[in-house]
Amino acid sequence: MKKIKIGICGWGTVATALHRSILENKNQIKRTHQVDLEIVAIGARRDNPKYSAGKTKVLRNIFDVLDEDIDVLVELIGGTDDAKTLISSSFEKKIPVVTANKAVIYEYGDILFKEASNNGVDFLFEASVCAGTPTINLLKNDLAGNKFLSIKGMLNGTSNFIISQMEDGMSFEDSLSFAQENGYAEADPTFDIEGIDAAHKISILSNIVFGSPLPPNEFLIEGISNITKQDIYIAEKLDFTVKHVSSADMKDGKLLIRSNPALVQKSDYLSSLKNVRNGLVIDTDLIGKIHISGSGAGGEATAAGVISDIVRLASESTNHNATSKEDLKYRQISDELFSFLIIVNSSSENINSDVLDMLAEHNISIRNSGLINDGNKSDMTCFFETEEITSINLQEFLNDLDNLSSNFKTLRIEK
Ligand code: HSE
Repeated sequence: MKKIKIGICGWGTVATALHRSILENKNQIKRTHQVDLEIVAIGARRDNPKYSAGKTKVLRNIFDVLDEDIDVLVELIGGTDDAKTLISSSFEKKIPVVTANKAVIYEYGDILFKEASNNGVDFLFEASVCAGTPTINLLKNDLAGNKFLSIKGMLNGTSNFIISQMEDGMSFEDSLSFAQENGYAEADPTFDIEGIDAAHKISILSNIVFGSPLPPNEFLIEGISNITKQDIYIAEKLDFTVKHVSSADMKDGKLLIRSNPALVQKSDYLSSLKNVRNGLVIDTDLIGKIHISGSGAGGEATAAGVISDIVRLASESTNHNATSKEDLKYRQISDELFSFLIIVNSSSENINSDVLDMLAEHNISIRNSGLINDGNKSDMTCFFETEEITSINLQEFLNDLDNLSSNFKTLRIEK
């Protein structure tokens, strides 16, 4: 039976869950994969008050783990610069690396893939997207031979968790605290609620399927921090669910990447995925649409992805890191057609008809509209679901709308 000696760097939610899961599932992994996993050392700058390393050796200088007799380094320190240095050092010592760190791949992916290849070592990162829900290896290996048309889904568990909790009446702040307590959110939760974490992940997937560079060119990145219960209520009235959606799609040889809150039709596959679930719809030329979903955050769910990479290392040569294309052409989000939900709050009695007149002046047709007034307040909320328009057309309208009311927002509607 093959033995794999593991060094873990980092000692947070994922690292401790990995330690526990390997100890608990060791015999299962031996039986199903004929691999004996042994954790040789942990690099941890400090202890974790929630979990003890037991008999496993703990080193305070994380770089010392590379001097131990290990077959793989598991990088779970998070962040970018130190993680990059650690991973590069591991490659120089010809030690393969498994990581769950999407930020370091986003920032340094192209460099790291080259370094891994130049040193002839494997670099695996299944858990960096959708945690342990099979995604990266599915795209890299199992779907070989397909041409990818688009990939779209919810890639941030915390955002989906917060929106789901808000649907059930909880406040944004309480839902975020809950997500943090459950180990779903990043150390800096701004990454979750401002769409940055999801942007890291869609960039990694886009690199694999479309060859876009890492770091990628700039693209639309918006989070859920401004979503309110009222937005969710209006979406519900119009038969939509609010979701944080990331997508990369190729049309006429040009790529568009984006990561933003959006309205998803209730009949859509993604709409029913609640709480910390991630979901993806992958469209290929040979198979058509493939749907996957599963837990996208949390210690155990992420540890599962790390373990699958470690076991993979034992059984095959794995370095299929996609090469970025230099001549890739991009579409601009401003040229794309989307329907939007426009929500306007105002104390003016005539706001609804004034906005309708203004929409007509800008040649924007609407599919649906409505008015909310709870009877007690003078404030009116009106909402309008537009036909497809360009963002330029929308922006020109919003510039004028600002003269009627400065209290408005827009949400993109998924096709
Ligand atoms: N903070 C991330 C999320 C963790 O909520 O999806 C998993 O990458």
